[in-house]
Amino acid sequence: GFSWKLNDHPKLPKGKTVAMVVLDGWGEANANQYNCIHIAETPTMDSLKKGAPEKWRLVRAHGKAVGLPTEDDMGNSEVGHNALGAGRIFAQGAKLVDIALETGKIYEGEGFKYIKESFETGTVHLIGLLSDGGVHSRINQLQLLLKGLSERGAKRIRVHILTDGRDVLDGSSVGFVETLESDLSKLREKGIDAQIASGGGRMYVTMDRYENDWEVVKRGWDAQVLGEAPHKFKNAVEAVKKLREIPNTSDQYLPPFVIVDDSGKSVGPIVDGDAVVTINFRADRMVMLAMALEFEKFDKFDRVRFPKIRYAGMLQYDGELKLPNKYLVSPPEIDRTSGEYLVNNGVRTFACSETVKFGHVTFFWNGNRSGCFNPQMEEYVEVPSDSGITFNVKPKMKALEIAEKARDAILSGKFDQVRVNLPNGDMVGHTGDIEATIVACKVADEAVKTILDAIEQVGGIYVVTADHGNAEDMVKRNKKGEPLLDKNGKIQILTSHTLEPVPLAIGGPGLAPGVRFRNDVPTGGLANVAATVMNLHGFEAPSDYETTLIEVVD
Ligand code: 3PG
Ligand code: CO
Repeated sequence: GFSWKLNDHPKLPKGKTVAMVVLDGWGEANANQYNCIHIAETPTMDSLKKGAPEKWRLVRAHGKAVGLPTEDDMGNSEVGHNALGAGRIFAQGAKLVDIALETGKIYEGEGFKYIKESFETGTVHLIGLLSDGGVHSRINQLQLLLKGLSERGAKRIRVHILTDGRDVLDGSSVGFVETLESDLSKLREKGIDAQIASGGGRMYVTMDRYENDWEVVKRGWDAQVLGEAPHKFKNAVEAVKKLREIPNTSDQYLPPFVIVDDSGKSVGPIVDGDAVVTINFRADRMVMLAMALEFEKFDKFDRVRFPKIRYAGMLQYDGELKLPNKYLVSPPEIDRTSGEYLVNNGVRTFACSETVKFGHVTFFWNGNRSGCFNPQMEEYVEVPSDSGITFNVKPKMKALEIAEKARDAILSGKFDQVRVNLPNGDMVGHTGDIEATIVACKVADEAVKTILDAIEQVGGIYVVTADHGNAEDMVKRNKKGEPLLDKNGKIQILTSHTLEPVPLAIGGPGLAPGVRFRNDVPTGGLANVAATVMNLHGFEAPSDYETTLIEVVD
C-alpha cells in the first residue's frame, strides 16, 4: 500500500537546516544593457555563480519542462512553483484547456451542462484576461469557446475583457480587442447577440491576488455585474484606444469602462438567470472574483446586487474550497508534493513571502492547496505587501523583511526547511521600469545574503533558484535576438517573463563533502529540484519523482 515514509538517503545526513530561496523572475541571460540583473550590483548571486562550478548550474523553467503546451511558452510562477514543489511535471491548465477544446470534451462536462441551462432565457457572460500570453488565459481558447457556445445554442453573449500588457507587450490590447470584435461581429451575422460589455486593465480591475486589495475586484464587479463605470463608450476598440491616451496609463492599468447603447444604458450587466464563465485557467488572480460571484455570505465589499446566476470557472480555482463549484475543465491533480512528504517525515517547515507572492511558496508550492499540512510542524508567514501602488515606485518591496523573517526562523532552530520567495525581480520587472528593476535586483541579492549568512551561522545548507525569468531581459527581441524598436524608434520594453533558464545553486557549511551536481542531467528543470532538496534533508525521493540533480562522490 501507499506510504508517506521516505527512504533514508544512503549517504546524506538528516537534521541540517535547509534554506530554499526562490528569486522570482530571475533568469540567466547574456550580459547587456537590458539585463537588469547584470547591471545591478548583485555580489551574492555573482559569488554563487563564480564559486564552485559543481555547485551552480542552470535549470529549465519554461515550456514542457513545467507542463506548458510548447517550448514557446514562457515560464510563470504558478507552473514554476508547482514543479519545484511537486517534483514531477503535470500538464498545466493552459494545456488541459487546449485539449478539452480540441476534443470537444469541454462541452460534455457537468460545468458546461450547467451554464447551458441559461442559454434559452439568459445571457452568457465571459470574464477574463484578453491576450495570447498563455499565463492566465489565451485568446484562442476564448475564440474556440465563443464558437462552441454559439453552436450549442447560446443566443446572447457578453464578454467582459481585462487588458493585459503584462504577459504581452504594452499596447497590444488594441489588437486583441480588434480580433475579438471581429469574431463577435461574425457571430452577430449569424443572429447571435454578441458584444463586449465592459473592460479594464488587469492590474486595476478584477485580477488582484491573495486578497491584497479588494478594491480591484470591486471596480470590476461594478462594471461587469452592475454595469457601472467611470468611463462609458459605444465601442470597445475606441474605449481602449482613448483610455490609453490618459497620461501614465498602460494596458495593465486601464480604468474600468462599460459599453453603452444609444440610450446610454450599459449593454451587459449581469442579472438573475444569466450564466457566467471566468475564462482564466490560472487560479491566483481569478479566485477573488470567484468568491464574489459564488459566496452567498460575503463581506469584502458591497456587491449592491447579488444576482442568481449559473457560474462556472474555466477550471476549479481552489480544490479545498471547491471554488467555483462548477467548472468547465478539471484542474491538474497535483498530489504527493515534496512539502507533504517532508512534513510527514518530520521536516519542520517555515514558508514566507509578502502578500503578492505568498501563495506562490505555499498554495502553488503545495500543488494548489491552501494552508499547511500540519500546523504543529509548519509555520507560514505572510508579510503584508504595499497595495494600491505599482512596484516600480517601491522596488525594494518587502524583500528585506522577508529575509529577516527567514533569518530568524533559521536561527530559532525550530525549522528544518526555511522557504521564501523574493518577489522583486518579477514584480518590478513587470512594470517595465528598467531603473527600478535594477534596484529590485540589488535588493533581492541583499536579501539572499541575509539568508545565506544565517545558514552559515547554523551550519546549514542553502538552495537558491528562481521560478522563471523576467528581470534578466527587459526588451522585446526579434528571432535573431536583436532589440525591437517601435515606430518612434524607441525600444519595445518587455514587461513579461522570458524563456530563459534559471540558476540553481547549492552550498553552505552543512553540505556534505563530495556533494555536487551530476553532469548527466543536462536538460534538468525545476521539477528536478524537489528530489534534490529531499536528498539534502537526508531522504531519497519517491521513485516517480524527476531525478535528483546531485550526486555524492567519495
Ligand atoms: C502576474 O500574474 O503577475 C503575471 O501574469 C505572471 O506573473 P507570475 O507568474 O510571476 O505571478
Ligand atoms: Co511574474
